[in-house]
Amino acid sequence: MGIKAFQEEVLKLKKEKDVCILAHSYQSREITEIADLVGDSFALSAAAAKMPQKTVIMCGVRFMAETVKILSPEKTVYLANPLAGCPMADQMDRDLIRQVRERFPDYTVVCYINTTTELKTVCDVCVTSSSAVRIIEKLPDKNILFIPDKQLGGYVAKRLPEKNFKLLSGGCPTHLRAGRRALEKARALYPDALLLAHPECLPDITEAADYVGSTSGIVAYAKQSGAREFIIGTELSILAHLQYDCPEKRFYPLSIDLVCHNMKITTLTDVRDCLRGTGGERITLDEETRLQAKKCIDRMIALGN
Ligand code: 13P
Ligand code: SF4
Repeated sequence: MGIKAFQEEVLKLKKEKDVCILAHSYQSREITEIADLVGDSFALSAAAAKMPQKTVIMCGVRFMAETVKILSPEKTVYLANPLAGCPMADQMDRDLIRQVRERFPDYTVVCYINTTTELKTVCDVCVTSSSAVRIIEKLPDKNILFIPDKQLGGYVAKRLPEKNFKLLSGGCPTHLRAGRRALEKARALYPDALLLAHPECLPDITEAADYVGSTSGIVAYAKQSGAREFIIGTELSILAHLQYDCPEKRFYPLSIDLVCHNMKITTLTDVRDCLRGTGGERITLDEETRLQAKKCIDRMIALGN
């Protein structure tokens, strides 16, 4: 069966079963084309809460499906491929953060949305890659312990010198694959291109970038920019989507190693099986954990995410 025919089968099932399909923008084109909503992690969860469908399938990684469930407990939420985790979200656990909190009781714990539900239960406020600077700036607290991403935390700390930051050494293994050598190579190959980078990248990359932002920020910047060539410093699917959406512009990889294998594990077969009721994983969260984790998301929303 060709991709188009497979997609049509999935779209037919989706309509029959009245299911909302979410796709993170690091998903492949064959998946984003059959999705109701495509975007970055928190935006998808917030938008899903407003969709009329009672069942949601997340084509992304586990923490994203959990965030959908935290915000929409009345919906039935599936992770299309149960193997899709996020190595960064799994780097720290509740006990570690409890111990760190005991050591630094006067620090406010800020967590990136890319964390497990369990970890969110011991954090004070959550941020996304696009809102981190704005939310932390608005916090009355001066002492900030940022987890888990040292790169995003370091990027925010440089922009808010009035705060005291403590960082733990977590990070995204995908974005960490591009360093100074990749940058030099890309600059030499594409000297006229603007560099657009995700704040999960190393400081060598974000300091050299013409624009730093979330996945949706990078996409919006490239689309509205008058420039014609761009080096994309984030997961390679963003490059592929931009090349389809802006055929008159040119997009180049910062490094061909910027592939998130967890994001790429989900296939059309997974989505079809999930729709048929023979695949995917139904996300369940015990109510106490969900409510405790939701507190740090609610605080982010109150601060104006
Ligand atoms: P955003 O989608 O929030 O930009 O995060 C990037 C990422 O690594 C998602 O896993
Ligand atoms: Fe996790 Fe990085 Fe993959 Fe995003 S790109 S899901 S942070 S491993």
